[in-house]
Amino acid sequence: MQNKPVALLDLKAQYAHIRDEVTATVARICDGQTFVLGEPVTTFEKEVAAYSQVKHGIGCASGSDAILLALKAVGVGAGDEVLTVPYSFFATAGYIVHTGAQPVFCDIEHDSFNMDPSKVEAVLDRHPKVKAIMPVHLYGQCADMDPILDIGKARGIPVIEDAAQSIGAEYKGQRAGSIGAAGCFSFYPGKNLGAFGDAGMVTTHDDAAAHSLRALRVHGGHTKYVHDTVGWNSRLDALQAAVLSVKLRYLDQWTEARQRNADLYRELLRDCADVQTPPVASYSTRHVHNQFVIRAKNRDGLKQYLTEQQIGTEIYYPIPLHLQTCFAYLGYKPGDFPVSEQAAVESLAIPVHPELTADDVAHVAERIRAFYAAR
Ligand SMILES: Cc1ncc(COP(=O)(O)O)c(C=O)c1O
Repeated sequence: MQNKPVALLDLKAQYAHIRDEVTATVARICDGQTFVLGEPVTTFEKEVAAYSQVKHGIGCASGSDAILLALKAVGVGAGDEVLTVPYSFFATAGYIVHTGAQPVFCDIEHDSFNMDPSKVEAVLDRHPKVKAIMPVHLYGQCADMDPILDIGKARGIPVIEDAAQSIGAEYKGQRAGSIGAAGCFSFYPGKNLGAFGDAGMVTTHDDAAAHSLRALRVHGGHTKYVHDTVGWNSRLDALQAAVLSVKLRYLDQWTEARQRNADLYRELLRDCADVQTPPVASYSTRHVHNQFVIRAKNRDGLKQYLTEQQIGTEIYYPIPLHLQTCFAYLGYKPGDFPVSEQAAVESLAIPVHPELTADDVAHVAERIRAFYAAR
């Protein structure tokens, strides 16, 4: 059994495979000296839209901005509320606040870590000001969208997908970002499709929303120096778009490698009673495994042990959003969302990135088993 370090993410190894293509692309952009929006961005927008089976892609500066712009495009603003989950990356709720609205939370399902559709109606009954529902497709798996869309439709509330972690994931054959009124993607370097910095995109089938998004990302104007609304500076850089176009060509093979690694962990940890590997939901026809998050007994002890073994891990997410100090004013308290709070205590992400070898995966699984065997 090997004893080399295993990183949670290995972008240097990924880059080594595509270095020549990327540097040629970067050189082309540098030669052209056009750095903001332009042809590379338009091309990448079309590629992501095609990949995600959706009509429009509107590039922007980050996944956080994608949330802000998408919510604004469906009319969310001051005095409104947006329903989302308390178990996600901070931006999911933080960028609701930047629209002028307030987040309202609904607990998650134990197995999928995603919004629990059976709890949505009760929250909406108590919060008539909710103007959008935003489930998160966490860790590379889509939320159970049909019941959420049905509730939204019955109440006239649009559903926005936070698809930041899930490019290429499928719900009953539909790609993330093509299911709701709009999808929000992040190309942060650690995502399955990662830029060389920050980048994001909103996807939508809706022509009017796409038109308004194209203005919102450039200060609210369609024509230079003419402003119908006040927007933002959230343009996508040509350099990022060009690098992402190269990387998109490899995304399916990287995704397959992630899926292989996840399947191997499931097999190797199947009879380890102290660890639960994440199941794939029946409606999840393509799980892209941005993270492989186990539930572990004595999670903090296991994390420390794996760190000593030079195996990278991360706790996503240690403090649920409703218990963050900045949201104290919303009036939530411990115990309000028990499934999210339990996930915060038990969950641990272990390496699943595409550059891992089968030996790496076997080594990580063996070290996890060794930790519990010694107890
Ligand atoms: C679920 C989720 N939502 C939103 C974001 C925000 O994306 P970004 O970091 O590109 O602003 C992220 C990324 O970190 C995320 O994981």
